[in-house]
Amino acid sequence: MATRRKAAGKAAKVTARKAAGKSAVKRPARKMTAQKADAVRRSAVVPDLPPPSTKPWGEAGKALEGVRILDFTHVQSGPTCTQLLGYMGADCIKVERPGVGDITRGQLRDVKGADSLYFTMLNGNKRSITIDSKHPKGKEILERLIRHCDVLVENFAPGALDRMGLTWDYIHRTNPRMIVASVKGFGPGPYEDCKVYENVAQCAGGAASTTGFRDGPPLVTGAQIGDSGTGLHLAFGIVSALYQRMRTGRGQRVLCAMQDGVLNLARVKLRDQQRLAHGPLTEYSQHGEGVAFGKAVPRAGNDSGGGQPGWILKCKGWETDPDAYTYFITQAPVWGAICDVIGKPEWKTDPDYATPPARLPRLKYIFATIEEWTKTKTKFEVMDICNQRDIPVGPILSMKEVAEDQSLRTTGTVVEVDHPIRGKYLTVGNPVKMSDSITEVKRSPLLGEHTEEILIDVLGYTAEEYSAIKSSGAITPSDKKETEAA
Ligand code: COA
Repeated sequence: MATRRKAAGKAAKVTARKAAGKSAVKRPARKMTAQKADAVRRSAVVPDLPPPSTKPWGEAGKALEGVRILDFTHVQSGPTCTQLLGYMGADCIKVERPGVGDITRGQLRDVKGADSLYFTMLNGNKRSITIDSKHPKGKEILERLIRHCDVLVENFAPGALDRMGLTWDYIHRTNPRMIVASVKGFGPGPYEDCKVYENVAQCAGGAASTTGFRDGPPLVTGAQIGDSGTGLHLAFGIVSALYQRMRTGRGQRVLCAMQDGVLNLARVKLRDQQRLAHGPLTEYSQHGEGVAFGKAVPRAGNDSGGGQPGWILKCKGWETDPDAYTYFITQAPVWGAICDVIGKPEWKTDPDYATPPARLPRLKYIFATIEEWTKTKTKFEVMDICNQRDIPVGPILSMKEVAEDQSLRTTGTVVEVDHPIRGKYLTVGNPVKMSDSITEVKRSPLLGEHTEEILIDVLGYTAEEYSAIKSSGAITPSDKKETEAA
């Protein structure tokens, strides 16, 4: 009987295989062959790895150790990128104009005569060399730097690098392994020649039109999603290009347009734009308020933007403290707990409130009711009470509170560094934590602080050659520039 069942089962399998268009006979060897072919394909594209290190975690060097960056960045977007690469262990050589430097050194100054926080907080873990890139000797030094570096990062206005003579063709000819990474405001197209700053990118990337309240104008956000966001995207491109170079042996161009970077961060709004074609966006509070949608995604105030409705609610002390607020999410799985906490247990079973679809048209009233409860607690009490019940909430932290937060200091996200001229200052450390590449945050360099050391130790100029370069005017400010900078 058992044998007959086995035989019948086998026959059924054979029939099924035939029906699926496969050979009646199963060939296990073929699976092995496919696996082998996959392994061969993989070994052709994945570089050989050394045996796993036996050194203790964090003592096997840094992730990007050995990578040298020719850092031609200024203002915010480019410096964000290279600072991150520096945090990961790359040697960032920041090229600055003699006597002038990155314009942000002198912008928004809080301490007379000292580099601004704008500069110091974006240029840690870098070395500074001053070179006049338009001086003949300066061009020669730059050529040597191109030969000695792995990546050139720049965020000049469109065409500025070419005007210095540093075209892609020239760089690639000089060092075929070099990766040339650029931030520009826009990608190829009608606006490619435009200069762009943060808020222009926020507007062009679709973020501003979808930020703010429905009855108010578009708003830009304080988080620098155009500058720092694009720098972060560029860093990802560079690291990917470095990995690909291990296989191809050659560099490539990496371009990150600020408009593209912002749009990538605002992609949920492009999602909603497409959903609009199929009906109203029911999770937007305007739907519950009976306000019709137009042709484009509207500004959604403090709506959560995801599938779980949320809003910012007042907490105890809101009358005098502008940051006494909490973000409160009515996540469906913890609806029962929310009802208990705010003293509305009847909502758990009331058909008008018990399910997410039933709640959607009533969100305004629901949040107003929850707010009656949050107003009786501080934002931290709300956090403690709700977290015990897995209700997702978040206190609105002021920058003062962030700066003083001990846990952020402990994790190295907020770091105090010492500077020879301005003294101690806070900076944001590496937001990416790695178990085998431990970030040491170092202060930003003074203008030209490492010029001599880079020319001699990295580029191999002799002491005599260094003196000659110094007198040539290629690395020192001309009188005119000094006057401009003063
Ligand atoms: N030696 C000699 N000249 C130097 C130099 C050096 N070491 N470093 C820079 N320069 C020159 C450049 O060659 C350029 O000269 P050119 O216009 O004659 O070719 C000049 O300095 C200014 O560069 P530019 O990038 O045009 O600066 P800007 O202050 O006019 O514009 C931005 C600033 C940010 C608007 C512009 O750089 C830009 O649009 N960048 C791309 C987008 C971006 O990153 N924006 C966000 C910044 S946070």
